[in-house]
Amino acid sequence: MIQETLITTVNTKGVPHIAPMGVSVQDQQIVILPFKPALTLDNLLETKSAVVNYCDDVRIFAGCLTGRRDWPLLPAERVKGSYLADTLAHAELTLERIEDDAVRPKLFCKAIHTVNHKPFQGFNRAQYSVLEAAILISRLGRLQWEKIETELNYLRIGLEKTGGDREWQAWGWLMEAVEQHRQRGGF
Ligand SMILES: Cc1cc2nc3c(=O)[nH]c(=O)nc-3n(C[C@H](O)[C@H](O)[C@H](O)COP(=O)(O)O)c2cc1C
Repeated sequence: MIQETLITTVNTKGVPHIAPMGVSVQDQQIVILPFKPALTLDNLLETKSAVVNYCDDVRIFAGCLTGRRDWPLLPAERVKGSYLADTLAHAELTLERIEDDAVRPKLFCKAIHTVNHKPFQGFNRAQYSVLEAAILISRLGRLQWEKIETELNYLRIGLEKTGGDREWQAWGWLMEAVEQHRQRGGF
């Protein structure tokens, strides 16, 4: 199973970075798979640590993809770095092993400290819609407009039926990014 999370890392100067990443659990290790090049990968290799944030504020996913990366952070307790102030839970990770690859290396990490901050509120279809739309937007340069339009039309149903303010705001940022891409002649 892959869980869509936000990975927070820092470089050796302590500059933080937030990126949406899917992670999986294999033999009690958390596996992160960044496509090269990625700042998340560079930071993880530099500091050998990261934080995985289990967060239902989809604005952060959409925000990171649309240039809004300045989200409140709090210092991690056991590793170099920080966690998202708004996260439901977080796990502090140390890098144990790398399976290198020219395209997408596998980083096997150990969770050395896990904290629950708030209860899980249940599934929400609009949050799913925003996550799926964010993934489409992260591949704008590689997908045909017809596919994007068809999928966005379907995803909009869940948004309209179940979305709250955060989901609508996140959706708006993503649609702006699609529009900008179209205006630049991307489709
Ligand atoms: C829900 C979601 C999941 C993603 N999962 C991954 C992933 O597993 N690996 C990856 O390289 N990028 C993933 N992305 C795209 C990255 O977040 C994005 O390209 C980001 O800028 C990573 O590069 P960075 O570390 O340089 O910021 C995902 C995006 C979204 C919206």
